Amino acid sequence: MPSTTNKPARLRTAVCPGSFDPVTNGHVDVIERASRLFDRLIVAVGRNTAKAPVFTVEERLEHLRCTVGDLPGVEVTAFAGLLTDAVRQFGALAVVRGLRAVSDFEWEFQMALMNRELDPGCETVFLMPSARFSFVSSTMIREIARLRGDISAFVPEPVASALLERVRG
Ligand code: PNS
Repeated sequence: MPSTTNKPARLRTAVCPGSFDPVTNGHVDVIERASRLFDRLIVAVGRNTAKAPVFTVEERLEHLRCTVGDLPGVEVTAFAGLLTDAVRQFGALAVVRGLRAVSDFEWEFQMALMNRELDPGCETVFLMPSARFSFVSSTMIREIARLRGDISAFVPEPVASALLERVRG
């Protein structure tokens, strides 16, 4: 229905944050789904202080740009500090997180509620990736690569080559 006011249309922006170390086909699936729901989707590489990364932030940005950077409305960037601050700075309505299985739920629920406690305007939307990615995690991919397993079905091609080169030296 056409707008009856003179207000400029507001772009519905969401932030999809993550470590993306490395980006997996499951992440790509969630980003594609989210990009169809929002006008603008900011894929934001954050620092998870509990994890020592294999790839630098710049490398992760490069991997994301060459896999999801061309999707309509998708922008790729990094953020430092609290996610809630980044969400406010981006003018986003929501945080998008993928839920692969019930086992993800407890941590994601805790994080969503803490973020909303820190900023009552910070809503989180959960999207389920395709079931064929429900067992794929960056942690497992890094381990399989280190142990010389085949990761080609789980990550985009440029990422597979970069990871194999990085972990096998
Ligand atoms: O892909 P990950 O590792 O699950 O992503 C976690 C991430 C980066 C989204 C999370 O650690 C985060 O939001 N970090 C920013 C710091 C912050 O806001 N911490 C409080 C979260 S309740």
